Amino acid sequence: PSAWTGINERTFLAIKPDGHQRRLVGEIIRRFERKGYHLVAMKMIQASEELLKKHYIELRDRPFYERLVKYMGSGPVVAMVWQGLDVVKTARMMLGETNPADSLPGTIRGDFGVDISRNIIHGSDSRESAQREITLWFQPHEIVCWQDNAEKWIN
Ligand code: PPS
Repeated sequence: PSAWTGINERTFLAIKPDGHQRRLVGEIIRRFERKGYHLVAMKMIQASEELLKKHYIELRDRPFYERLVKYMGSGPVVAMVWQGLDVVKTARMMLGETNPADSLPGTIRGDFGVDISRNIIHGSDSRESAQREITLWFQPHEIVCWQDNAEKWIN
């Protein structure tokens, strides 16, 4: 839908339990704020197995699926919705590759990670995934309606 494109594009990001344990929450939020994106929803939760299985439904046949669900449920997850121009694609660039070993310095995984099964943060891989994941993790009233004309030049 048009509401999810342009400066209104939204993505779902989740700082994984290892990111929280390593005190990277502030650093990660800072990077997206300084880039020029808008934080429109955020909560720290202990995700249920049910939620995580739905979140990773497309990976259910992969050998690491059970391990991934267990790891994501092993501690708090900081779930967020970020908004701005091309945020889905740009956020993925800022995260780095799935495997931190392939991630360039300057990316979150390139700067802070070494292990593919502890890769600090999740980001939606497409607009369609973003919409599905945001709806899965957040109620509509938990997301603020961001519109700030004074900052329009950022986008
Ligand atoms: S794929 O192959 O393209 O579907 O994989 P990818 O999109 O890169 O990764 C999907 C999520 O699976 C996680 N992943 C793994 N976890 C543990 N072990 C291994 N080997 C592994 N490979 C991929 C990866 O971190 C992605 O999780 P999210 O939370 O989406 O980042």
